[in-house]
Amino acid sequence: KLRVGVLASGRGSNLQALIDACADPSFPVEIVHVLSNSAGAYALERAEQAGIPTSLIRHKDYPSREAFDAAVDARLRDAGVGFVCLAGFMRLLSEGFVRGWEGRMINIHPSLLPSFKGLHTHEQALTAGVKLHGCTVHFVRPALDDGPILAQAAVPVLPEDTPDTLAARVLEQEHRLYPLALRLIAEGKAVIDGDIVRITGAAAGGALAN
Ligand code: GAR
Repeated sequence: KLRVGVLASGRGSNLQALIDACADPSFPVEIVHVLSNSAGAYALERAEQAGIPTSLIRHKDYPSREAFDAAVDARLRDAGVGFVCLAGFMRLLSEGFVRGWEGRMINIHPSLLPSFKGLHTHEQALTAGVKLHGCTVHFVRPALDDGPILAQAAVPVLPEDTPDTLAARVLEQEHRLYPLALRLIAEGKAVIDGDIVRITGAAAGGALAN
């Protein structure tokens, strides 16, 4: 099985979706470690409830971003992590850290990239007046919310939407999409080719479009 480490800063509902997927013995992934930069992260509690080893590495305890990232990197390697999933991890990662995990680290972002990078993506979508919004799982590159796109799911934007109602509709899709994307990687069906990801095998059809 693919030995996955999950980095999460907050509520951890995407972590929970991955934990739930792993409860199926046929899911080709084992979550071997969950790491947070924030003491209050409910994600840590979810991991503990699932019997997964956790680490709290507070960014405030380190003099620089590089020093924090080095501590995270060392902990992941000690835990035997072979692949990293960012799940609501709200710290920018240094170029050195990202290079060290290149091709072995993915993120879920609450917009249809390359639209609406950064924070407040649902407000950004409402302000732009788009009629479709969604979420993206992508390989991580040093630039913010950049990197080869692995999977996306779209939802309609409805006339009465607020950022909260739109976020809830997208989140439901995030929980479906993240395990699906991780499975593709673990099964060797997603291969990076330059700036894009090629999907091979039975999943290559419409399953990922929505
Ligand atoms: C999710 O919507 C995720 O896509 C987003 O934060 C939320 C975390 O929720 N991530 C980002 O904005 C990354 N820049 P969760 O803690 O319940 O999974």
